[in-house]
Amino acid sequence: MGGLTRTQERTLIAVKPDGVQRRLVGDVIRRFERRGFKLVGMKLLQAPEKVLAEHYHDLKKKPFYPNLINYMSSGPVVAMVWEGYNVVRTSRAMVGDTDSAEAAPGTIRGDFSVHISRNVVHASDSVEVAQREISLWFHSSELVDWDCGSHSSLYHV
Ligand code: TYD
Repeated sequence: MGGLTRTQERTLIAVKPDGVQRRLVGDVIRRFERRGFKLVGMKLLQAPEKVLAEHYHDLKKKPFYPNLINYMSSGPVVAMVWEGYNVVRTSRAMVGDTDSAEAAPGTIRGDFSVHISRNVVHASDSVEVAQREISLWFHSSELVDWDCGSHSSLYHV
């Protein structure tokens, strides 16, 4: 991402199959819009197994890995790239703890999930990981640079 400023930090957010099936896509988008982040990429897709294997490569040896891949393949996901100041850290806070029982009310998982294996949404956990995940899920031609104009809070930092 060389050349991008801190307000142009980007992260990968994905509504997982349970979130899509439960019609939670709009709610997730609304939260990120209202917080002041900018949507620069979005698509609905049946995640290819190769992408999932790469996305979760560090969890391959975990006992829950086969179930995780089955779950992530069980329906379409909505993959999005959101941009803005500190978006990686802020979106992790908005999404909430991995374990639904620990996720605070008001977070996405704290509001919509009761079990770690069906936790509705993915959010990259560091800037470096975000860059890797964005290039895994999106071609650069699918990301749109657009001007928020004077009505955005993004440029007030
Ligand atoms: P992880 O990368 O640890 O969490 P996060 O999604 O918050 O970054 O794990 C990836 C996903 O794996 C997690 O969202 C849900 C699933 N998972 C389980 O099903 N069981 C588990 O015990 C853990 C740790 C994760």
